[in-house]
Amino acid sequence: MSSFTAGEGALWQALTDAQRRLANVHMRDMFERDTTRFSRYTLQADQLFLDYSKNRLDDAALSSLMALASEAGIDSRRDAMFAGEIINSTEGRAVLHTALRADVAQSLLVDGTDVIAQVHEQLDRMERFVDAIRSRRHCGSSGEAITDVVNIGIGGSDLGPAMVTAALQPYAQSGPRSHFVSNVDPVQIHDTLAQLNPKTTLVIVVSKTFTTQETMANAKVAMAWLLAGVTDLQPHVAAVTTNAAAARELGFAKDSTFLFWDWVGGRYSLWSSVGLSIALAIGMSSFRKLLAGARAMDEHFCSAPLAQNMPVVLAMLGIWYRNFWQAGSHAVLPYSQRLQRLPAYLQQLDMESNGKRVRLNGDAVGSATGPVIWGEPGTNGQHAFYQLLHQGTDLIPCDILFARRGDTADEQGHRMLIANAIAQGEALMRGKEDTQLRDEMQTAGLDEEKIKALLPHRCFPGNKPSNTLVFDQLDPRTLGNLIALYEHKVFCQGVVWGINSFDQWGVELGKELAKGVLNALNESSPPAADESLLGWVMRP
Ligand code: F6P
Repeated sequence: MSSFTAGEGALWQALTDAQRRLANVHMRDMFERDTTRFSRYTLQADQLFLDYSKNRLDDAALSSLMALASEAGIDSRRDAMFAGEIINSTEGRAVLHTALRADVAQSLLVDGTDVIAQVHEQLDRMERFVDAIRSRRHCGSSGEAITDVVNIGIGGSDLGPAMVTAALQPYAQSGPRSHFVSNVDPVQIHDTLAQLNPKTTLVIVVSKTFTTQETMANAKVAMAWLLAGVTDLQPHVAAVTTNAAAARELGFAKDSTFLFWDWVGGRYSLWSSVGLSIALAIGMSSFRKLLAGARAMDEHFCSAPLAQNMPVVLAMLGIWYRNFWQAGSHAVLPYSQRLQRLPAYLQQLDMESNGKRVRLNGDAVGSATGPVIWGEPGTNGQHAFYQLLHQGTDLIPCDILFARRGDTADEQGHRMLIANAIAQGEALMRGKEDTQLRDEMQTAGLDEEKIKALLPHRCFPGNKPSNTLVFDQLDPRTLGNLIALYEHKVFCQGVVWGINSFDQWGVELGKELAKGVLNALNESSPPAADESLLGWVMRP
């Protein structure tokens, strides 16, 4: 393992100095001085094109960032991950979501077992199940076709499948309709089931552990609803889990229990059987294209030199702003209605992975770690929070995403969408100079006093960084590229910070406390000392 420590060393100092040097340089001027900036600061990886020219960066800073990536040992850590080494040290596990999309011809031995063979065995089982449902050979207990699939799961057992299914709707025309229930708020499961017919519904309970409170509670409600409406439960249920014994105990048949493994983190699991609801919606051949897209990004990540490696470049730009410009958040702005769930998906991927404060050896990290990830589809965001991006006091780096081609016949509508995406990147970077504003106001007939009063309010400072990710069309392969890109970006940042990106101990305390609170609520026994919110809530 590398002896590199975030926050220390000559490169860290060089980047601190570079930030000071660039703090007073406007990107507008950098573009003016260097007409090759766009072509030099762009990259292609499979279907994805990245324009990172609108960053507060010059060649010297970029080369220090790349040197930092190298010194942090990103390549050796990456190789260790792909080789199945136990890099999730606090849970004693390998991290092998990349094996979930490996080609069938490959093999990888972990503890004497070929995990890639295991993966393909489950994929083939999924394929038979998916084909049987989509071709209406597998019907409900009354012989009616399955028209609706309800995925019950939370976190990684929900966000990935829900995001991908929404993103790939055009590929889901001949499949059953998909519904996702995650929240323990009973409203969600009751509202979902109220629109459905149990005789034509399949409920998939997805949980790595098969113990998660929210999922088990929702599963219970769904089972009771099914039992009241069908003569045989079995054709209407499936389970996806690493805990086959728990699924069996709850009555799931072996044939309809799909497995994955402890070396798949929940937030990295959509490529496994956890993607069953995706495959049911879009068909197995599209699901395999999604896997192929992720595999192509894996290959790029493993083979491209650091400075041309898209996940590494994105990761190091994130490090640049988080650690040297003190940017506390990062906005994800998909100009794509179908990617509306991407920000929520990336929130878990990034914040559950890198929201850590200690290094692998238990010492405090000597720098800030994962930023807050947030966002909304453009152009909705433009009419809500872009004000703060343009004129607020914080520096918020953004990822802007769009497809060159839309997937409706409305070409003009899509052009309008793209125009907004491009214009926003430009506006964030360029801003608007006082002289131009002044001219505009003079032309509009405003007097000098009014112009002076309005100028500070109407001024756009610009110099706000953004990356733009462009692809031809949002198809399964491209989406596979995109998700794997972000997975590897998060991984690289974790390596630089020296943290374990693959555990999530921080979510445990709330779960434990909720059990105690629920017991008190169930038994109507408020805490002895009534000075608490629980006591207040339980007042008669
Ligand atoms: O609470 C966090 C978490 O453990 C996530 O990491 C995971 O994706 C989610 O809960 C769901 O867990 P499970 O799939 O075991 O139900």
